[in-house]
Amino acid sequence: MHICKAMMAAVSVAGALSASAARADGTVEVLHWWTSGGEAKAVGELKKAFEAEGGEWIDSPIAGGGGDAAMTALRARVVAGNPPTAVQLKGPGIQEWAEQGALNDVQSVADEGNWDSVLPPALAEIMKYQGKYVAAPVNIHRVDWMWANPEALKKAGVEEMPTTWDEFNAAADKLQAAGIVPLAHGGQPWQDATLFEDVVLGIGGADFFRKALVELDPEALTSDMMVKSFDQLRKLRGYVDPNFSGRDWNLATAMVMRGEAGFQIMGDWAKGEFLAAGKVPEQDFLCWPTPGKGFVLNSDSFTLFKVEGEDRIEGQKVLARLIMSPEFQKVFNLAKGSIPARTDVPLDDFDACAKRSHADLLAAIENDTLVPSMAHEMAVPRSVRGEFLDLVTAFFNSDMSSEDAVKQLAAAIKRAQEN
Ligand code: BGC
Repeated sequence: MHICKAMMAAVSVAGALSASAARADGTVEVLHWWTSGGEAKAVGELKKAFEAEGGEWIDSPIAGGGGDAAMTALRARVVAGNPPTAVQLKGPGIQEWAEQGALNDVQSVADEGNWDSVLPPALAEIMKYQGKYVAAPVNIHRVDWMWANPEALKKAGVEEMPTTWDEFNAAADKLQAAGIVPLAHGGQPWQDATLFEDVVLGIGGADFFRKALVELDPEALTSDMMVKSFDQLRKLRGYVDPNFSGRDWNLATAMVMRGEAGFQIMGDWAKGEFLAAGKVPEQDFLCWPTPGKGFVLNSDSFTLFKVEGEDRIEGQKVLARLIMSPEFQKVFNLAKGSIPARTDVPLDDFDACAKRSHADLLAAIENDTLVPSMAHEMAVPRSVRGEFLDLVTAFFNSDMSSEDAVKQLAAAIKRAQEN
């Protein structure tokens, strides 16, 4: 009897020990660029969930919208032989690091959670290298969104959200006449490129977008359609205020919140910002796709780097499992402004902007008008994206003609491809 009790006690102590050992084992150092109000709230949900599992979270935020500063920091860390455990990373960037042998896979977690059956196949492919998952997606962001202050539009006599670029220009002229900044914008290369790609989709359509910004077809890059796209970008330049240079994107969002500006063209992380400030969609702010047919896709994921030590490898598994849990996908995306990457998370508690995003995503898949974001690193290698950003920013900040812009762009892309 005694022996039995002692054995049972020993078994339960061992069980408790191994459970607590497993809990204490998970450590992650997470490199990300989510530092604005809405972003910090969203990543806070991930930290909270990870710590609730007993894991240790080491936060490595690198401020800078669009993540360019974070990517520079990442390279330095990998070169120094000290990579973070998990990194916010996307698109071809995941494959580039995988090809260098810098990543760990979490295929066992993906098998257990049956990720293949709950992710859109196109997204699942981006997360895999040689058939194994090396990253876990947290969301689907849409880049071709326009945010507006309804009061400001009313004051200026703008009655409807524009559905063509001509209508946009007409609305912007009215705002300007009413003394309201038509377009809140931050002059940083990735923000300029965000405007540019939304305009390319609107002017040229999804097939043209793909040819020019994904396949880098020289004819498309130098076409009249591309000239027209730069013409519209030039119009947009005329609608920003004189202090736009270097402004962070979330400060531009705040201009719309305050009614200083009518519109901002930005992905739906801007919605996270409105929500974090207590603003109510369809009441305090409006969301509307930028003129055009399609959906510019951007998805954040956490990529698992090659680290050593059982606690870190365990941390990667715990993190990957958490990220892909339906509960986490819901709370995270409610804060981030995006929609879940998993296709089976009910959207009942999401707002009208998220529901529209989801409906338009399905329609874009159906009509083959879903395109990957160039500005947000979903479409082309970083070196090629860098050429787009340099040229678009040079155009935005000078009086370069649209004809010169397309010539210079095509030449720069060609050089980048040859290197
Ligand atoms: C990321 C978003 C982020 C935004 C601004 C985008 O590239 O996908 O998650 O909120 O940049 O920093």
